[in-house]
Amino acid sequence: MLNSTWDKDPAGYDSHRTTWLHQRKTNRLFEFLTEAKAGERIIEVGCGTGVAILDIAERRPDLSFIGIDPNREYIDYANTKVTQRKFKNVSFSTGLAEQISSSNENSCQANWIISTDVLHHVSDLRRSIEEISLNSCSGAKWMILEPSWLNPYICYFQATKLGERNFWPNAFLELTRNNWHHEATQYINIIPSAIKKPNNIIKKLEYFLEGLPVICGTICLVLQKK
Ligand SMILES: C[S@@+](CC[C@H](N)C(=O)[O-])C[C@H]1O[C@@H](n2cnc3c(N)ncnc32)[C@H](O)[C@@H]1O
Repeated sequence: MLNSTWDKDPAGYDSHRTTWLHQRKTNRLFEFLTEAKAGERIIEVGCGTGVAILDIAERRPDLSFIGIDPNREYIDYANTKVTQRKFKNVSFSTGLAEQISSSNENSCQANWIISTDVLHHVSDLRRSIEEISLNSCSGAKWMILEPSWLNPYICYFQATKLGERNFWPNAFLELTRNNWHHEATQYINIIPSAIKKPNNIIKKLEYFLEGLPVICGTICLVLQKK
């Protein structure tokens, strides 16, 4: 099982990711890439159906995006969108975080890496970090978005739902210490995915309350390659 109960339903999963909760994550990634220069390459590890990359690539046609994910159905679904929407700056291919080099024939050097809700799914976190490090240029930046165990509901959900796990940031950061500087930690997302389109008052409340990590659903880490 690669993605909880959604493995065989790319369209359903794509729609599930089209909510305010996930748009906030995509917007966070978009902000992260503000300093990316024309021509630079972004790799999304575990890109799913490509929701984030396609949104960002449309807003940043000057950047080049590669999405990898082991789920062939998700990759086919994402590639159909690339064709339909005539993207020139995006490609998707199947591959594991643990084997990035062999999953892309072209040089896979990345200036920027993004990964959303993936690291708690990989079977070998240490190997995944090594592969991401190998494929990243010196000075590359990596933004990691994962469920935050500090939120008791998220911690319980991740521990008990079929196909899910908790993400432990301290253990993760320990594994990255040799090759990456830890630049920042932030907590975001309070409005659950059940509220697909919150009104402006609820949105403002979310921004206001995001200072309290214990009620946020997502931890956001930024690393820079040494
Ligand atoms: C919760 S989904 C997130 C997908 C996407 N990042 C998004 O935000 O919509 C987790 C993704 O991780 C992928 N995945 C699972 N194991 C993986 C691995 N070892 N390497 C890379 N991706 C993996 C799954 O196929 C799935 O698409």
